[in-house]
Amino acid sequence: MRKLFIFSTVTFWLVVAGFWLANFFLPLEPPSAVSTIAETADRNFTLSDVALHGREDDCWMAIEVQVYDITAYLPDHPSEPELVLPWCGKEATQAWQTKGKGRPHSPRADQLLAKYRIGKLDEAR
Ligand code: HEM
Repeated sequence: MRKLFIFSTVTFWLVVAGFWLANFFLPLEPPSAVSTIAETADRNFTLSDVALHGREDDCWMAIEVQVYDITAYLPDHPSEPELVLPWCGKEATQAWQTKGKGRPHSPRADQLLAKYRIGKLDEAR
């Protein structure tokens, strides 16, 4: 009985030590999906490519030389749809910078926009 007790105690602490040591050798966290998307998001598009996505259910915009697919965000956009939808499929830098009324979007909106980036506008093509 005493041997069994010693054996289980030693085994228990060996397992605990194993987990503790594993901490030093295993990577802290897997690469996040966001960074994977960002790394693969360096595709080049022309304004003609963007123009093919000018619908409410398929809405791309070119803003400050970057291209965004904001289809998923459109239902959440706080303005009346008539203000944003005309910019689907277009170069929308000025509309973005002025909200169509002369006021810029907030830094929070800037961060949100970054999530929808799918590539760059290649004006040279
Ligand atoms: C380019 C065309 C766009 C136009 C004309 C436009 C216009 C507007 C307007 C008028 C408002 C004020 C709504 C209100 O408070 O009643 C607004 C707010 C907002 N928009 Fe846009 N928007 C555009 C694109 C976008 C995009 C692409 C995003 C993000 C992906 C975005 C994110 C926001 C956010 C988060 C707000 C809340 C206020 C702020 O944080 O600035 N908008 N927008």
